[in-house]
Amino acid sequence: ASDRPFKLLVLPGDGIGPEIIRETLRVVDWARNAGLRIELSEGLAGGASIDAVGAPIAEDVVEQALASDAVLFGAVGGPKWDHLPRAQRPEMGILRLRQALDLYANLRPAVCFDELLDASALKPDLIRGLDILIVREATAGVYFSLPRANEIGPDGQRRAYDTQAYTEAEIARVCRTAFELARTRQRRVCSVDKANVMETGALWRTVATEVAAGYPDVELSHMYADNCAMQLVRRPDQFDVIVTDNLFGDILSDAAAALTGSLGLLPSASLSGLGQGGRSRGLYEPIHGSAPDIAGQGVANPIAAILSFALCLRWSFDRADLADAVERAVRHVVSSGVRTPDIAEAGVAPVSTLQMTDAVLAAL
Ligand code: NAI
Ligand code: MG
Repeated sequence: ASDRPFKLLVLPGDGIGPEIIRETLRVVDWARNAGLRIELSEGLAGGASIDAVGAPIAEDVVEQALASDAVLFGAVGGPKWDHLPRAQRPEMGILRLRQALDLYANLRPAVCFDELLDASALKPDLIRGLDILIVREATAGVYFSLPRANEIGPDGQRRAYDTQAYTEAEIARVCRTAFELARTRQRRVCSVDKANVMETGALWRTVATEVAAGYPDVELSHMYADNCAMQLVRRPDQFDVIVTDNLFGDILSDAAAALTGSLGLLPSASLSGLGQGGRSRGLYEPIHGSAPDIAGQGVANPIAAILSFALCLRWSFDRADLADAVERAVRHVVSSGVRTPDIAEAGVAPVSTLQMTDAVLAAL
């Protein structure tokens, strides 16, 4: 443990990003009053940054992130910037940060709020008490590997290709993160691949098995990705931690999120190494986007952002006690029936972003 205060960089972004981050900062203040020592700074990202400095993230903001213990991110993007070429869009800001900070483990918890079972597409019995953590490899694999192209081939036909490549080091480090996290949970890791048809899948399975040898207290199972998609829908309660590559993780984590209902409730973390009992540099953000359809109305659900800060307390600031308190407060508020419009049942008067946060702070 160090004596210096932790550094937190806050990047609100666009749309509802600033609205939910403004409220989350009230929970940050609560944590400071509860003894958390942090230095806060704020920067521009996404469309807000494009408008101000012409790029989705400025290099000095990247430098600031590199000098921080954690980044709290809102959301970026919106119709105003949709006309830009892909490489210049708001979303590139977050990709740039992920790479600069080497945030190779993307964590997506899928936790069911039992009071909101009706919001799920599944039968309540299947998802009651659900608590899955998907650990997705996020800096390698098919989204990054070369060669890739969309071109005219030698035969004059248009053709396109991507490459899926993984080194053993890239697989091992994300698997270690998954095993470390499993030790704080039910000690079960399911490694997901397509070892039956892909070379990267075969290596993935071998390396996951090797890493597991260092964690005799954690149970490892393997599953093919297509079967995993089916099992997530049929019997999601069989999973504790799922670890998988970038592509499968992208798809399976969205499926797992949909199991539990509202987008406005689910946080995420991107970590760079989680040593034994240690902490990691991390970027924390809700899984939802900038929701331009409701931006400016003060009705966005701040819970996903608040729970993202709870993950930050747990994994970057070494304060699992405060993280638990925030998570308990959110559960209390949801179970006492406080609802923003996105999770309100018919006949329930919804509250605003501000009022939802008031309720969380009151519970804290
Ligand atoms: P979205 O997640 O922004 O919105 C989908 C739907 O969920 C909308 O109806 C929205 O109103 C609702 N919603 C989302 N978060 C909510 C919250 N906290 N409270 C209440 N309702 C909420 O996804 P969409 O519409 O596909 O994308 C909108 C913009 O966000 C696009 O520019 C997209 O590129 C960007 N985006 C950014 C992400 C990021 O910053 N990491 C992730 C996903 C999308
Ligand atoms: Mg996705």
